[in-house]
Amino acid sequence: MRQILRLVLLSSLFASPAFSQSALQNPTVVALKAAHLVDVRAGRVLDSQTVLISGGRIERVGPSSDVAVPAGATLIDLGAATLLPGLIDCHTHLTSDPHNAGYQGLGISIPREALTGAKNARITLNAGFTTVRNVGASGYSDVALRDAINASDVPGPRMLVSGPPLGITGGHCDENLLAPEFNYHAEGVADGIPAVMAKVRETVKYGADVIKFCASGGVFSRGDLPGTEQYSPAEMTALITEAHRLGRKVAAHAHGTLAIIDASNAGVDSIEHGSLIDDAGIAAMKAHGTYLVADIYNDDFILGEGKSYGFTDEMLAKERLVGREQREGFRRAAQDGVKIAFGTDAGVYPHGGNARQFAKMVQFGLTPMQAIQSATISAADLIGWADRVGTIEPGKFADLIAVSGDPTSNVTLLEHVQFVMKGGQVVKNDLVK
Ligand code: ARG
Repeated sequence: MRQILRLVLLSSLFASPAFSQSALQNPTVVALKAAHLVDVRAGRVLDSQTVLISGGRIERVGPSSDVAVPAGATLIDLGAATLLPGLIDCHTHLTSDPHNAGYQGLGISIPREALTGAKNARITLNAGFTTVRNVGASGYSDVALRDAINASDVPGPRMLVSGPPLGITGGHCDENLLAPEFNYHAEGVADGIPAVMAKVRETVKYGADVIKFCASGGVFSRGDLPGTEQYSPAEMTALITEAHRLGRKVAAHAHGTLAIIDASNAGVDSIEHGSLIDDAGIAAMKAHGTYLVADIYNDDFILGEGKSYGFTDEMLAKERLVGREQREGFRRAAQDGVKIAFGTDAGVYPHGGNARQFAKMVQFGLTPMQAIQSATISAADLIGWADRVGTIEPGKFADLIAVSGDPTSNVTLLEHVQFVMKGGQVVKNDLVK
């Protein structure tokens, strides 16, 4: 039986396009050369570097004068370009599109969402994001997408996925658009301590890598307010403790002050949005080492184009309550030393534009290098993948990108990523050679 299984596995491996390509084109080692390389751990740019890649992982990195290209290696010389680690977005919704917000979304099936995810996975990877943490999807469409990407069925970034986000009845993570007689509640709804514990277990059972919950109201929901708390501190503690027991990190959607403080004190790993953060919230996050994942580009899109995408008046009104405040809060939190990880909420705005947030982060207080670190080494730390992504170092997956010019002086260059490699496979190469 085992023999047969092994044969079946092997033959499917040989049949997959990814395998045959790598077998033919990357016989052993790939040598990647570039004039510059961003060392995100040291926070500096190194000149004239060579990266040796084998078996999909980085084997060696150093000055081209020291690192000889082994005989038989495939040489990719990126010339004057700058190499960086593949980017990481810690807050995406690949299975959603902005057109699905509000009432329009009610007509979209879960299988359709999965296919939307396949489209957006490719777009996101081509934009230079080789890893995403996807925090919220219906029907485990995100689990299906992650598994399809891992099986090389569809191209896309490495994904950590949450499945359906947990939330209170009537809260931001419920569905409040339907009249009572439809008797519908979102699959992540759980009220009370035993229910949140059971829901965490169920979500993990069906494939979640990370748990997402709504600690406050939100913008893209009906009848709630971003500033109000959803879940009691006792429920949050039970939820987070249970997730941690099962080895899963927890991300809390929290715009409101109280939700930020209570979720941080309950041990959450990251605060998403963090829009109305105050000094007490900053202090709680610093005390617990909680990451802030603030989608501070989002407001430009929502207020600029939301109406034409069919966002409701209520959503737009709520956006006006949080959007500008969020940016000022981000500036203060970053200045005071709260840990920052990059997350955009792409899905609320069109996928592929993730990198537009870098310029906002620089406008609101980070240096370009800090903004890049938030999307590489810091993001990898938040998601628990510091051992495999986020830096260009031996042992890490060969997930690398390149741009023309110096992104540490002009961070908008990251909006035009010209070379993408994931796991040693070239996904995109618009640079000559
Ligand atoms: N998903 C979030 C919500 O509905 C989006 C918030 C977007 N606004 C912002 N300023 N970041 O609450």
